[in-house]
Amino acid sequence: MRNPAPTLYPIHDLLAERWSPRSISARPVEPAKLKSLLEAARWAPSSSNMQPWRFLVATRDHPEQWQRLFDCMVEWNQGWVRASPVLILSVAALLTPEGKQNHHAHHDTGLATQNLLLQAVAEGLVAHAMAGFNRGLARETLSIPEAYDPVAMIAVGYPAEASDLPEAYREGEARPRERRALNETVFGAGFGLPSPLLQEGAG
Ligand SMILES: Cc1cc2nc3c(=O)[nH]c(=O)nc-3n(C[C@H](O)[C@H](O)[C@H](O)COP(=O)(O)O)c2cc1C
Repeated sequence: MRNPAPTLYPIHDLLAERWSPRSISARPVEPAKLKSLLEAARWAPSSSNMQPWRFLVATRDHPEQWQRLFDCMVEWNQGWVRASPVLILSVAALLTPEGKQNHHAHHDTGLATQNLLLQAVAEGLVAHAMAGFNRGLARETLSIPEAYDPVAMIAVGYPAEASDLPEAYREGEARPRERRALNETVFGAGFGLPSPLLQEGAG
């Protein structure tokens, strides 16, 4: 199933086609594709090239590992994630090599994650990020050190039909995708001030 973004201005297909479906097939993902997703993440930009991201990856080939990630998720997410052949937890390193706080750790981990999500689209896969998981439990059961923060769970797999989902999730799958208007997001001379770029007739 596809659900491309109805964009106001043209954007690259890869971006328009990325979305967060809940219908994910149980079909295994080829290790080579999975490695490409992680390689894409590796090439994200980061503040001082600190590369604060880490990824814990679990496939169904290692059921105990997969289950450990699955068990951290909130019930709502478990309901649709249960078919996903791959679960990934992104983790951010909070400190610089000098032991200071890296204020962009989460930002840069997000950049790497977006690279992963977009590479998934390029590979014919879908990848859906989630905040709905128990971060304390993840820290404990996955032995995540204090200087690292669990950031997001990501379900990866081949797309499936909405009809494969439990009923509670089907309606959301068909919902049109929405975004706040560009002029509420993009400002000009100061916060909240209109951007001349978006004014009528600006081209
Ligand atoms: C950090 C993050 C956390 C999210 N958490 C959840 C979640 O716990 N459960 C869920 O079903 N979707 C989750 N989503 C998916 C968002 O709901 C989705 O990205 C948003 O509605 C926009 O839709 P789109 O990704 O299809 O464009 C999350 C996305 C991100 C980036």
